Amino acid sequence: MLGSLEVPNRVMLAPLAGIGNWFVRLQAKRYGAGMTVSEMVSSHAIHYGNEKTCIEMLRIDPREREPGPPALGGPVSIQLFGEDPAMMRSAAAHVARAGADAIDINMGCPVTKVRKTGAGAALLDDPDRAVEVARATVEGATEAGERPGGIGAGAIPVTVKLRSGVRSGETSGVDLAHRLVEEAGIAAIAFHPRSAAVQHKGAPDYDLVASLVRTLPAPVILTGGLSDAEEVRRAFRLTGAHAVMLARGALGNPWLFAELVLGREREPTPEEVLAELDWLIDRAVEHLGEARATRYLRKFYAWYLARLPLESRAARRMTEMLQTAPTLTEARKVLDAGSRAPSLAV
Ligand SMILES: Cc1cc2nc3c(=O)[nH]c(=O)nc-3n(C[C@H](O)[C@H](O)[C@H](O)COP(=O)(O)O)c2cc1C
Repeated sequence: MLGSLEVPNRVMLAPLAGIGNWFVRLQAKRYGAGMTVSEMVSSHAIHYGNEKTCIEMLRIDPREREPGPPALGGPVSIQLFGEDPAMMRSAAAHVARAGADAIDINMGCPVTKVRKTGAGAALLDDPDRAVEVARATVEGATEAGERPGGIGAGAIPVTVKLRSGVRSGETSGVDLAHRLVEEAGIAAIAFHPRSAAVQHKGAPDYDLVASLVRTLPAPVILTGGLSDAEEVRRAFRLTGAHAVMLARGALGNPWLFAELVLGREREPTPEEVLAELDWLIDRAVEHLGEARATRYLRKFYAWYLARLPLESRAARRMTEMLQTAPTLTEARKVLDAGSRAPSLAV
């Protein structure tokens, strides 16, 4: 439970900037994700009605919440970032009215562009402001009242995603997590037990998560280092976390959700991988139109090709051809030719 919101299982899609739009979230849901979180969205851009932000980034598609099978139709959370409580209140109210089922606040982003504005992981160094930001977000979500498209009743829950600290060895995130829950009414904490200084490198500190789980009077969602099913099960065992968020482990691998949630045991066949890529291309065109989708999809190809039984030189060559294909028709031709490669014959 996140406040009064029921999440059908304990495996979620993590927020991924530049990636976590409606169709990437829909893909995770199709494979069993219980909840998905959007990429981070600027509270300032929402407050000032930036068109691309409000129409494209905040788009929630009804299919994201349609129950399967195997999709469970669970909630969609929108992640906001910002340092100004008034902006966060306004953005939270907007997002709640637009139909989000939950709101997550980003207090973990290590990127300089975000931190120098005082948002993301910078809030770990300014805990009083962090609590104010969280309180204002909860107020905004509550002011908006019942949501039109959402799941469940009552005001939508607000969660915070944060890191263990800013610099290596710091544990300021643990103290802040307690304050956010106890003083601001935050419904759950998504905890990334790495400092902002190491960005996404190094081993996550699962002991720290275990101690947070034992003491925090709210659910803890673990993120960090969850690269495959075995690691996810180990992390659940070691930390006692209430749920996990998959990030890099789910890139080009929605089957990881199925493995964890639905007990799927086999690797996807080459046909399944290529069919999934085809589905993704269709959705990208639906969202962005042909020309923008051609550019947008460039970063996706390598993730899927890594799941094909291709020799590394052949995979690199195919990725390069896909990334430089001037149109999606050309890209599909590359995939079609690739699918007839002897190593992919099944
Ligand atoms: C490309 C990329 C984009 C990310 N974007 C966001 C974001 O918008 N908001 C956020 O809170 N975390 C973001 N993260 C962090 C992930 O949600 C996750 O916490 C982190 O990658 C650790 O999990 P992992 O080690 O399993 O990948 C991003 C990570 C990556 C790799």
